[in-house]
Amino acid sequence: MLTGNRILLIVTGGIAAYKTLELIRRLKERNAAVRCVLTRAGAQFVTPLSLAAISGDAVYDDLFSLTAEAEMGHIELSRDADLLVVAPATADILAKMAAGIADDLATTVLLATDKPVLVAPAMNVRMWEHPATRANIETLAARGVMRAGPGVGDMACGEFGEGRMAEPDEILGAIEAFFRGEGAAVTPSGGAPGQKRPLAGRRALVTSGPTHEAIDPVRYIANRSSGKQGHAIARALAGMGADTTLVSGPTGLADPPGMTVVHVESACDMLDACTQALPVDIAVCAAAVSDWRAADEAAQKIKKNGGGPPRLELTENPDILLTLARADNMRPGLLVGFAAETEKVIAHAKAKRKKKGVDWILANDVSPGTGTFGGDRNVIHLIDDSGVEDWPAMSKDGVARRLAERIADHIAAKS
Ligand code: C5P
Repeated sequence: MLTGNRILLIVTGGIAAYKTLELIRRLKERNAAVRCVLTRAGAQFVTPLSLAAISGDAVYDDLFSLTAEAEMGHIELSRDADLLVVAPATADILAKMAAGIADDLATTVLLATDKPVLVAPAMNVRMWEHPATRANIETLAARGVMRAGPGVGDMACGEFGEGRMAEPDEILGAIEAFFRGEGAAVTPSGGAPGQKRPLAGRRALVTSGPTHEAIDPVRYIANRSSGKQGHAIARALAGMGADTTLVSGPTGLADPPGMTVVHVESACDMLDACTQALPVDIAVCAAAVSDWRAADEAAQKIKKNGGGPPRLELTENPDILLTLARADNMRPGLLVGFAAETEKVIAHAKAKRKKKGVDWILANDVSPGTGTFGGDRNVIHLIDDSGVEDWPAMSKDGVARRLAERIADHIAAKS
């Protein structure tokens, strides 16, 4: 049953939209709450009235409707669901999602949402195989967008091949798997259509975000890490089929679907969660772990008592990367660390690699002005046994994909 689960179903313009009516019926049978957004093209295939009748809710189709905005704004609509499902998802909406275009209610909701998204692509086989669609699917997969189908078969246009929207039962199965917390089982795929899942059967651990080190019940020591890079790496590894555990410090990011996410606050908790996730084939430590914590966490809020500021005694935190490197028979098969540096980036990163006993170090410059911390782009130098590889400036999603591909190649070469 899907009792209490709220689904926002976005219906775009494809002949397969008629199957979406059946999907809504099945979702309602399982007690899910379904609310629909219909695009202008979608309305050529199904009517707002039929969607409203089957879903039992209002149908939203206009970005600038004053009545709808008064009742529920598009931002609220995008957040007031547990899962967004785009079915059918045309080549056009996939392209708009990949590019971040928001030119109608459906695309605006998809850009504004902080909730997981599942797409059920439906299009002609040539459109599906076009390099533009392949690139868009790859981009969306790396961002954690889940996918159900498409299947292979006869098409409405008379051709045969991959591109048919998954059957309502398959999409329903994917939705149920998502709500059971088995996002990875949702016919997703890490890359382009038809691409294999090269990390299937491998276990991966990723740390991400900052840590918060409590001073007293209300104050803590933290840093500016956003978690964007670590989360992107976890998504890319899971997308390639790895059974992934993401150990995340406090971030403002939504949990990526299709993996186990363990939330922690402090470095000590992060270390515990990491050791519990062992053994793994791959570990990527992307978290900005606080080097120090308060030696004694005050049980009560520290008060101003007129005697001047309190003395804050610090003690060193455990080094998670170093601990994993020294985990004897539990050492991850491939251990990857980051070196965020503000000067002599390569030299410092090389020294760090040796000192911590790490296989690969991804060095990046985080000096003020680079925009790396909190930003969306990163410039990486990968240091391994054979030397330094300079990567061009790219998005954090791009870095994640390239790293995941390099990891997959490395593992394939070793086995
Ligand atoms: O020593 P530094 O913090 O620069 O090392 C960076 C690398 O070490 C990153 O991969 C980071 O995730 C990891 N690290 C860790 N535990 C710490 C400190 C850093 O895992 N306590």
